[in-house]
Amino acid sequence: NIKAINAAQRLDSRGNPTVQVRVTTDDGVFQAIVPSGASKGDYEAVEVRDGDNASFGGKGVEKAVHNVEHVLGPAIINEKFDVAHDLAKIDSLMRHLDGTEDKSKLGANAILGISMACARAGAAAQGVPLYEFLRRESGTSSEYVMPVPFFNVLNGGVHSGNTMAFQEFMIAPVGAKSMAQAVRMGSEVYQELKKVIKQKFGSAAIGIGDEGGFAPPISEPHEALDLLEDAIGRCGYLGQFKYAIDPASSEFFNGKYYDLGFKSTKPHLYQPAELSNLYKALLDKYEIALLEDPFAQDDWQSWSSFCTHCPVELVGDDLLATNVNRLKIAHEKKACNSMLLKINQIGTITEALEAAKMSYHFGWSVFVSHRSGETTDDFIADLTVAIRAGHLKSGSPCRGERVAKYNRLMDIEDEIQANGTCTYAGEGFREAHRK
Ligand code: PGA
Ligand code: ZN
Repeated sequence: NIKAINAAQRLDSRGNPTVQVRVTTDDGVFQAIVPSGASKGDYEAVEVRDGDNASFGGKGVEKAVHNVEHVLGPAIINEKFDVAHDLAKIDSLMRHLDGTEDKSKLGANAILGISMACARAGAAAQGVPLYEFLRRESGTSSEYVMPVPFFNVLNGGVHSGNTMAFQEFMIAPVGAKSMAQAVRMGSEVYQELKKVIKQKFGSAAIGIGDEGGFAPPISEPHEALDLLEDAIGRCGYLGQFKYAIDPASSEFFNGKYYDLGFKSTKPHLYQPAELSNLYKALLDKYEIALLEDPFAQDDWQSWSSFCTHCPVELVGDDLLATNVNRLKIAHEKKACNSMLLKINQIGTITEALEAAKMSYHFGWSVFVSHRSGETTDDFIADLTVAIRAGHLKSGSPCRGERVAKYNRLMDIEDEIQANGTCTYAGEGFREAHRK
């Protein structure tokens, strides 16, 4: 009952081209737009870009658009799938048509756009919201849990122009009682942080990075955490927030050293063991609940030795690339205890759900994530609720493409509340899926 599959080139939040897909069924037209990362991992599915420097600096996606309209779309329509129940079959056909491990032939951007739009069409065909459709696809029927939003309020790394090597400093309102309260607390601290930064560094310092967080002229991680502590304290929320850091360290590892000076004029080299010690000192001093990609994607040894006695959530992003093959290696090596889930790292919704399932099976948690190049598509809000991931990151509580997800989560909370009760993951965010 799919009548048409169309695609078009549109822009993402960094102003780069991205793929929009429209799937038409008897129930209407269902749209999706795919995101794109900047600190991409080596093991991610590949987005096809035109490479024609005369257009968008080579970043155009007309080829991917063509692949949707002339290769993938017609093949899917030809199969006469039942969109209400055949998402896995549609995804599998697309993988088969592409034929590569990393979806580099037809493009993960083309494939994911169709997968997302078909999920929306499937939800409409079943007459349920997207989060309910995805919950059924993931094979659970347990109660919904609203996730703790991890707001990335200080941006560094390749997402900003300051000299801070670490990419993300997040605040997580674990002490809130609901999604709405969590968003309110995050927003209040964000606004207070702006004042703190302005007082300390002047008004030229309140510009923001790719994910809507501030990017003041600091380079030491403890300076960032002190700013956060200050803002949280001024709001009267001490003890109600936890911190999280994503250094995105694959960006500054040269195979031997981590260069925390990679954005300044002078290198600042750390051996892996020295970097581990830096993390341990930060964990001792601040209420940090989560570390993501503290080590590079191939530095297995550092991951494994750090994970052995790690008291906090250790999330693999570039390390795992939402790919079950990478998950299996990491599990064997006891390298991490949580998976970052980015739908465009793997390229189909079915495979993303499989990766989440495997993580849970390993006893890990799942942290759902946007990309630094986003759109106002709010798909991941529904996905997070569906798989009861207990936490997600969608940037700061600022910028349309970031707040689209938080606003959608508040809508979902209202909707579920109206039909019964809805719990908020809070302190137990790592275990939300087990309840
Ligand atoms: P990216 O960053 O979307 O630029 O890859 C997000 C992350 O590293 O978590
Ligand atoms: Zn990351």
